[in-house]
Amino acid sequence: MRVCIFGTGYVGLVTGTCLAEVGHHVVCVDVDAAKIEALNRGVVPIYEPGLTPMVQANHAAGRLRFTTDAEAGIAHGEVLFIAVGTPPDEDGSADLKYVLAVARTIGRHLQAPAIVVDKSTVPVGTADQVRATIAAELAARGVDVPFTVVSNPEFLKEGAAVEDCMRPDRIVIGTDSPEALQTLRRLYAPFNRNHDRIVAMDVRSAELTKYAANAMLATKISFMNEIANIAEQVGADVEMVRQGIGSDPRIGWHFIYPGAGYGGSCFPKDVQALARTAQQHGVQPRLLAAVEAVNAAQKQHLFELMVRHYGSADALRGKTIAVWGLAFKPNTDDMREASSRTLLAQLWQAGARVQAYDPEAMGEARRIFGERADLVLCDSAERAIEGADALAVVTEWKQFRCPDFALLRARLADAVIFDGRNLYAPADVEAAGIAYYGIGRGRSL
Ligand code: UGA
Repeated sequence: MRVCIFGTGYVGLVTGTCLAEVGHHVVCVDVDAAKIEALNRGVVPIYEPGLTPMVQANHAAGRLRFTTDAEAGIAHGEVLFIAVGTPPDEDGSADLKYVLAVARTIGRHLQAPAIVVDKSTVPVGTADQVRATIAAELAARGVDVPFTVVSNPEFLKEGAAVEDCMRPDRIVIGTDSPEALQTLRRLYAPFNRNHDRIVAMDVRSAELTKYAANAMLATKISFMNEIANIAEQVGADVEMVRQGIGSDPRIGWHFIYPGAGYGGSCFPKDVQALARTAQQHGVQPRLLAAVEAVNAAQKQHLFELMVRHYGSADALRGKTIAVWGLAFKPNTDDMREASSRTLLAQLWQAGARVQAYDPEAMGEARRIFGERADLVLCDSAERAIEGADALAVVTEWKQFRCPDFALLRARLADAVIFDGRNLYAPADVEAAGIAYYGIGRGRSL
């Protein structure tokens, strides 16, 4: 089938590439000429496992093309995906300006019947706005081209985006058009073998499903972080509690890992946007507000542990803290809303220096922080601990899992580790003569 995708960010690029991979003919449109030019040279602007070779192979095969020419893209696609960003507005609601700009462009150039698909995470009611925007442009041109707007939210995880896209656990399609549903069933047939993963519903339910999924996951994390804070104070170990509750299938093992708080481009933004939607419709989002408040506090928790260890924030002045992990989670270079940013800001505020290392996010860190005297961006985990007083682990990259504790003991002047993702067994760290602080591990208080 012929597909056009607007937006070559995480969602658009991965979706377009995976659709090309299964044999569809995909044109990706972006207003960023430099990005399009790079993609046409096979240079992928984001780090996502498996993506670059897949882009290059499908581009070489002629099934995946990149252009800034929206008109050509619209002429090509029988299905037109909107996969542009929806950044948060000042009040926390999702800013639809890019989505509606694409809708206007579609309305200006549409010549043949098409299915317009909202892939971006957009508030309930957006499909109606997209439909109205396209219709207004068509009316202004005095033409009548049939089109329908479908909600088909994406559930891919950064760091596993290609895998998630190639093997979706569900494909949510919100439409009141049986024809559109049929077309999308054909489009997704290659991803829908063995058992039917398509969950068809009305447009608004599909739009809300996306927010409900992310808000539920964020809730699990904040819940666990609150339990961790209780565990810390009552002298329990939340890692034991996690194992004690995860085996109950009604609770499950996923997303009950306590830590330094959730980050990324989705959870923080989507929880806020859903709360905003609730308020706009007269519903008091008590739980969502709590989920967000717990997370904001949790991002400061590693620093609190440091203050607890050193006796005061003042005592951190002049200290050099090694930070392992800057990305908001492993396998990505994305630092949006990352917990590391909160920790670094607090350390700098206290007058500490930071020596940081992340396997993928160093370029991003350089871009975000620029040159500063109190930050050294190191090219290895070992470099980051040279001359450091303490170590904070913020992102659970695999390569941080089994450090040489004897080396850490030799390098860290104050012999203390603040483990923001509970990567280590406290006993192993303490056996090496290093003080250990984890999240919710009261036994080490
Ligand atoms: C999330 C969802 O997992 C996807 O299903 C969804 O499609 C995506 O948002 C989206 O809306 O586009 P993502 O933001 O890439 O994906 O990352 P996650 O793997 O969900 O991690 C989010 C954050 O939660 C990370 O900072 C991670 O460290 C934290 N986390 C995760 C915890 O602190 N504890 C856990 O148990 C799990």
